[in-house]
Amino acid sequence: MCGIIGYVGRRSSPPILLEGLRRLEYRGYDSSGLCVQTPAGLGIRKKVGRIDAGLARECAARPVEGTLGIAHTRWATHGAPSDENSHPHLDQEGRVAVVHNGVIENYQSIRDRLSAAGHVFHSETDTEVLAHLIGVHYAQVRAREATRDLHPLAAAVMSALREVIGTYGIAVMASDAPGVMVGARRGSPLILGVGDHENFIASDASAIVAHTQQAVYLNDYDVITVTADDFKLANLGSDTAQAQIRQIEFSPDAAEKGDFPHYMLKEIFEQPRTIENALRGRIDREELSARFGGLNLSLAELRAIDRVVIVACGTSWHAGLVGEYLFEEFAHLPTEVEYASEFRYRNAPIEKHTLVLAITQSGETADTLAGLRESRRRGHKVLALCNVVGSTIAREADGGIYLHAGPEIGVASTKAFTAQVSVLVLLALLMGRTRMLSAQRGAQIIKALEALPAQVESILARDAEIKRIALKYAAAEDFFFLGRQYQFPVALEGALKLKEISYIHAEGYPAAEMKHGPIAMIDDRTPTVFLVPQDALYEKTLANVAEIKARKGPVIAIATEGDTEIRRKVEDVIEIPATLEPLVPLLAVIPLQLLAYHIAVARGCDVDKPRNLAKSVTVE
Ligand code: G6P
Repeated sequence: MCGIIGYVGRRSSPPILLEGLRRLEYRGYDSSGLCVQTPAGLGIRKKVGRIDAGLARECAARPVEGTLGIAHTRWATHGAPSDENSHPHLDQEGRVAVVHNGVIENYQSIRDRLSAAGHVFHSETDTEVLAHLIGVHYAQVRAREATRDLHPLAAAVMSALREVIGTYGIAVMASDAPGVMVGARRGSPLILGVGDHENFIASDASAIVAHTQQAVYLNDYDVITVTADDFKLANLGSDTAQAQIRQIEFSPDAAEKGDFPHYMLKEIFEQPRTIENALRGRIDREELSARFGGLNLSLAELRAIDRVVIVACGTSWHAGLVGEYLFEEFAHLPTEVEYASEFRYRNAPIEKHTLVLAITQSGETADTLAGLRESRRRGHKVLALCNVVGSTIAREADGGIYLHAGPEIGVASTKAFTAQVSVLVLLALLMGRTRMLSAQRGAQIIKALEALPAQVESILARDAEIKRIALKYAAAEDFFFLGRQYQFPVALEGALKLKEISYIHAEGYPAAEMKHGPIAMIDDRTPTVFLVPQDALYEKTLANVAEIKARKGPVIAIATEGDTEIRRKVEDVIEIPATLEPLVPLLAVIPLQLLAYHIAVARGCDVDKPRNLAKSVTVE
C-alpha cells in the first residue's frame, strides 16, 4: 500500500526511480511523484493516474536531472487522488521533501498548531503535515551545534517522529543536504538496498533487486541516514541499533512477467512449482508426518496445543478456513479463523495452550500484524505462515513457515493461496501425527501431496477450455460460487477472485445454505459455479445443484474427472483430477482463478491492478 523508492549514487536518478515505481505500482496506483536534487534546488514532478500515463510522461515533457531522488506511488488514504495530494510533499520553506507510506493519526492537531503559526498547506494529506513538522525541526537543529554522529536532517526527522502518532515508512531529502537521504519506519515496511557506490531505500525488495541483492530490513523506530558510499542506523527507542545486511531471496527474473500478458496469469501457471517448493524438504517419510525448520516449538509444546486461532485477511483468511477443516479432521483441534481487523479489537479469550497462527502473503498487512502483536503482548506464541522473507510479521513471530512461492505481484493472490493451503496440510499432518492420526492415513496424505504438482499441471492444460467457458459467461452481472465442507472456502475464494478483478458482483456460499435466502436471486441470467467433487457429500451436493437448476440458473460445475452424471445435469463442466477430500481445494481453486482471469480480461479490466485495491494493506 503505497510504494517508496529512493536512490543516491553516481547515476542519473529519475530512470531508476521511475523503473522502481513501476515495480512497486502493485502496492498502489492512483498517483505518483518524484523529487530530485538538482543544482537549482529540488525538482519535483507528480501526477495523478498510472505511472506510464502520468508521471513518466510528465518527466519526459519536463525532464529533471540529479543523482539523488525519492519517489512514491500512492494508494489514497487522506485526500482523493490528485496532483496536489500526490507525494512528495514539501515543508513550509520548500527545503525538505518527504514521501510517506502509512497514516499519521494525529496529523490534524499538528496541522492546526502549525497553521496557527502561519504554515500554509497545499494538500489534504497527513504527509504534508509531517513534511512541515520535519522542516520546523530541521530549522531548529541547524541553528544548534551539529552533532558529530547524526546528520542534522536525520536529527530533525527523529525529533519530528517523536511527536507523531501513527504508522510510517518515509524517505526524506533536503535541498541543502546534498547527497543525503533519510529513511525511517514504524509499522510500514522499509528496506535499505546496499549497492556499489550507490544505495537505495525502498518499501520492498522488488523495486531494487535489479540493482542489488544486499539489503538491510529496517525495524520499527529505525532511522537510517544514507549517502552514496555509506549508511548509518539510529533508533528512536535505543542507542544500539545495528544494521544487518542480508541477501534478498529472489532473483530479478522472479519479479518479471516473462512471456505472460499479466503477472496474475504467470503466477497461476507457476503453481505446480510453487506447491512443490512449499512441500520441499518438509515431508517426513519415516514418521509419515511433516517437519519444519523454524517452528521453534518442542514436541512437548506441539502436543500441549489444544486449540488453534488463525488470524488473517483476504485470501489468506480463506486459506485459514481450509486450515480449520484440516486441523479439526487431522488433529481434532478446535480451530477458529478470525478476520484480523476484528480480532485485534476484540477481547477474544485465548487460553494458555492455544496456538495463534498468522497467515499472510506479504507479512506486512497492518491488521494481521496488530493481531500478532496483541497476542504476543498477552504472552501467547504466534506462528506465521508468510511468503515475504524478512517481512515484519516473519520477523516478529515466535516461529514460522515460509511459503517459498517467490514474489507475488498480481494484486489478486493466487499462488500464495495454494502455497498456504499446502503448508497448512503439512502442519495439520504434523499435529495429527503427534496425536491420533494413523500412520496409514499419514501415508495416504503424503502420497496425495506428492501427486499435486502434476495434477495442477493437468488442470492448467485445460486453460483453453476454461477460457471458452469464461467467455460464455463474461457478460453476467451476478455470480454465485457454491461448495460444501472443504469446498466452501474455495467458493469464497472463487467469488473474491472474480469480484476483485472483474467488478462482477459475486458471492460465495455454503451450497446448502442457499435455500435460506440467497436462492431468491437465482434466475436464468445468474450463473453459479458449483464445486461438486465426488466426495462424501457428493449426492447431497447434487441435490443442491438440482435446486439451482429448478430455478433456471445456469451452472458451471467443477467436478471429478470421469464424472458422467454431472455432465447430464449442468451446462458446463470443468474436470479436476481425483485426490483426497482435504486436498481438493488445492485443485478446485485453479479453474476458479482461470475463470476469473479470463472473464476480467474479456471485460477489459486491468487484471494486475484492479481499481481501488492494493497488494499489501499497511493501513488499518
Ligand atoms: C490485500 C490483497 C489480498 C490479500 C490481503 C491479505 O487485500 O489485495 O490479495 O489476500 O490483502 O494480504 P496478506 O499479504 O496478509 O496475505
